[in-house]
Amino acid sequence: MIIVPGSASLSLSKALASELGVKLANVESRRFPDDEGYVRIHDDLDGEEVVLVQTAYPDEKIIELFLLQDAAREFNVNKIITVVPYFGYARQDRKFNTGEPISAKTLAKHMQLSSDSLLTVDIHEESIMDWFDIPSKNISGMPQIGVHLKDIGPEIIIGPDKGALELAKSVAEAMGASWDYLEKTRIDGENVEMKAKNLSVSGKKVAIVDDIIATGGTIVKATEQLKSQGATEVYAACTHGLFAKNALSKLQNVCDRVISTDTIENATSVVSVAYEIAKEIRKG
Ligand code: R5P
Repeated sequence: MIIVPGSASLSLSKALASELGVKLANVESRRFPDDEGYVRIHDDLDGEEVVLVQTAYPDEKIIELFLLQDAAREFNVNKIITVVPYFGYARQDRKFNTGEPISAKTLAKHMQLSSDSLLTVDIHEESIMDWFDIPSKNISGMPQIGVHLKDIGPEIIIGPDKGALELAKSVAEAMGASWDYLEKTRIDGENVEMKAKNLSVSGKKVAIVDDIIATGGTIVKATEQLKSQGATEVYAACTHGLFAKNALSKLQNVCDRVISTDTIENATSVVSVAYEIAKEIRKG
């Protein structure tokens, strides 16, 4: 087995190689003067079980993923397992308006062209996995977020909406905390109150967990509300830290800590999903 690292997932690829005790391939990745991408795998992959790791964000990393898959396929490989730590475009998982593509399906269909199986992490909508015709699995970074948060000590883990309750539960169960979700009540035309559905946050350290933080709008609003309801500290944790534009500084202004995993590598990626991915690969 050999790990082929995409340029969007270098740290995670290294962590995965070390977790599995296998070699990391030497991959050249650069851009031509006209900004088209170029990749070259410098190791001989003949006979290898290849684990190709590349997050599908931003757009140029998606093209790089396809090029790497094809470059690997040009060898006489035994098998290609594609690991897509962050599956971009997953929030367009249906046609909201006539004339739109189902972007998540578009990506799934292309990702499987040169792959024998695929793993991804906390995909925004589980049903996207049904678009794959090859064996595929969505695994969760939440238990490892729970292990990390245990040392920081939040007493309540909160999902920003009912849809995120399962995420909150799996973090809370990994660390022995309580869990809940925020219910929204419209106060007037401009104001919406967000309050934990069942638990009081007064005097408590709280962590809000979500699959994705993009603009940070959801978490900033939730943090302000929880603090006004008496939470002593509020931490923000997500699997995929996209942090569009100035989202991270907005979050750091209100949250006591911001953490994410290495599905998207940035300064807040203090949790690795390598262990969970390795566990799945070992199952074969
Ligand atoms: C929404 O369904 C997702 O789970 C996240 O809550 C959302 O993508 C967060 O977006 P933002 O950071 O822009 O509020």
